[in-house]
Amino acid sequence: MQTIGIIGAGKLGITLAQLAVRAGYQVLISGSGDPGKIRLAVDVLAPGAVSARSQEVAESADIIILALPLGKFHQLAPQYFADKLVIDAMNYWWEVDGPRSDILPDDQSSSEYVQALLPAAHVIKALSHMGYHDLYDEARGKDLPGRKAIALAGDNTADIAAASELIDSLGFDPLPIGQLAAGRKLEPGGPAFGVDENIQALRQLLG
Ligand SMILES: NC(=O)c1ccc[n+]([C@@H]2O[C@H](COP(=O)([O-])OP(=O)(O)OC[C@H]3O[C@@H](n4cnc5c(N)ncnc54)[C@H](OP(=O)(O)O)[C@@H]3O)[C@@H](O)[C@H]2O)c1
Repeated sequence: MQTIGIIGAGKLGITLAQLAVRAGYQVLISGSGDPGKIRLAVDVLAPGAVSARSQEVAESADIIILALPLGKFHQLAPQYFADKLVIDAMNYWWEVDGPRSDILPDDQSSSEYVQALLPAAHVIKALSHMGYHDLYDEARGKDLPGRKAIALAGDNTADIAAASELIDSLGFDPLPIGQLAAGRKLEPGGPAFGVDENIQALRQLLG
């Protein structure tokens, strides 16, 4: 059984924990501090997931999902992410993160920034363009009518395949769109941001 580690136990992190438990993964999830702070919320909202510290989540997981505010990401210790598949589900959001120029250069996608800070990790951009309520409502089994799609971007074919398998298990059709830099299309202001569509419509939007 694969272990999915989710860093960030807010709206997105808890929703992904629910989907991952349902898909049969072992799930570890952390917030910013003591696991005791999130234990009740995790037990009630994502029963089966286990709350832990971020270091333990990163060290124990086969796949790590970053679901914390982008402006807080620099607080994570890079050494725990070496050689791990890391799915960056974060978006720059000005109300939360402050001025974009304080965090990342204009010409860099958020996942290129994540890759630069985690040079030994295998970073994929995914699970970021759909709102948490749509993720919760729309997840469904393979080949069921009305299945929605999630786009992903990354520089390595094997990493894209592994992340695609996870997305499929969570209940969505994966749509690879190219290298990590293409992840910009999934960010706020990009054509796929906020989009909740099937794979044909999403492919058309992303041209
Ligand atoms: N909400 C959505 O629908 C959605 C969809 C796609 C992508 N996203 C992206 O996902 C990220 C999280 O969004 P959200 O809406 O879930 O935010 P949220 O509800 O505010 O939750 C943020 C979570 O991150 C945790 N956190 C903060 N600093 C941390 C640190 N240093 N280490 C570990 N965890 C830390 C917070 O823990 P504490 O409470 O302990 O500070 C909290 O559990 C953002 O980048 C957002 O753009 C959100």
